[in-house]
Amino acid sequence: MDAIDVIVTKRDGRELSREQIDWVIDAYTKGVVADEQMSALAMAILLNGMNRREIAEWTQAMIRSGSRMDWSALPGRTTDKHSTGGVGDKITLPLAPLVAACGGYVPQLSGRGLGHTGGTLDKLESIPGWRASLSNDEMLDVLGKAGAVICAAGDGLAPADKKLYALRDVTGTVEAIPLIASSIMSKKIAEGTGALVLDVKVGSGAFMKTVERARELATTMVELGTDAGVNTVALLTAMDRPLGCAVGNALEVTESVEVLAGGGPADVVELTVRLAREMLQAAGVSGKDPEEALKDGSAMDAWRRMIIAQGGDPDALLPRAAESMEITAPASGVLTRLDAYGVGLAAWRLGAGRERKEDPVSFGAGITLHAKPGDLVREGQPLMTLHADETSRFDRALAALEGAYAVAASGDEELLPLVIDRITA
Ligand code: URA
Repeated sequence: MDAIDVIVTKRDGRELSREQIDWVIDAYTKGVVADEQMSALAMAILLNGMNRREIAEWTQAMIRSGSRMDWSALPGRTTDKHSTGGVGDKITLPLAPLVAACGGYVPQLSGRGLGHTGGTLDKLESIPGWRASLSNDEMLDVLGKAGAVICAAGDGLAPADKKLYALRDVTGTVEAIPLIASSIMSKKIAEGTGALVLDVKVGSGAFMKTVERARELATTMVELGTDAGVNTVALLTAMDRPLGCAVGNALEVTESVEVLAGGGPADVVELTVRLAREMLQAAGVSGKDPEEALKDGSAMDAWRRMIIAQGGDPDALLPRAAESMEITAPASGVLTRLDAYGVGLAAWRLGAGRERKEDPVSFGAGITLHAKPGDLVREGQPLMTLHADETSRFDRALAALEGAYAVAASGDEELLPLVIDRITA
């Protein structure tokens, strides 16, 4: 087998055989296939696509490049959620303990933010003492104590994907649906969850800008999960505006705790409860209803157990940014537009996100929204507050927000429904 044959097969629009796929993933992981050869193959896949069999075999080969986790020692069923990422998407934080409070076990491996979307681990690291890196035994211990664990994926999980994702990032090949789907699903299947709910975001603040592309990605991932024996469901959800009223690490932790206390913004509560019901149903767990677990404090109890079991202090004051600046409504009327990408980019420039993988984030930086699309506002009323550690960051954040919000006499801008569609096998 040689790399040129594999590249030429896909370049000419033909199907890759199982032998070719197994060989190229293994050889790339070991360094036998060079980065420039894998880049050419990734581009050929982006241009010519792959069929269901090829994507499934590609995913299985990436899983086999590392280890698989095993939760059979737990006394209940495992269920997990993966979001393709968005602005203000802190849903994992209240969702994992909520599902635990209803009888599911949630082994959630999460990532850090890159670009304008935030990362779950960065958010939780704003809690003093909280640790993202756990061994498998520690994960099992936290799951036993709290029913949920949120932590970083170790190096042993789908190492072929780690290498390939870094390569795609610098070769213009991130957007290929077969490569996105196999990248996400190889990690989720290797994680060993029994059931999986995918939250595929759609809109300016998401990877997938249109419902059609999001549906194609969701269908591909649901097929991959199903073929691998994981009960998988996907929701397409709105990311044309930010989710909730907090964007930024510690700000989003505070909003998540509000949800766990029975309050919080309506959209965050609605999506959290909907995803929790989907996760429980997919796992076949019929415990307490999620709405009840938010009301009776059991979800909050699970959150506190989970944070403490990972070294965090759930009562600690969270970091706050030193500087703030208010943006007010330019006129009276309806807030017709609040663009997710603009708000995410502004929060990133305020210091909530990182430019390179090794950069630190500011835990206190971000944006608090005081109005959401469809709300009536009066001229001069605060629309949002920007938070940063240095005032010098405000100018570039304001530039990102130019054209990202609008107030008009009447609201005629179409918003996506919060849950757009549900995709099953
Ligand atoms: N997230 C992943 O893990 N992989 C992709 O390819 C895209 C998003």
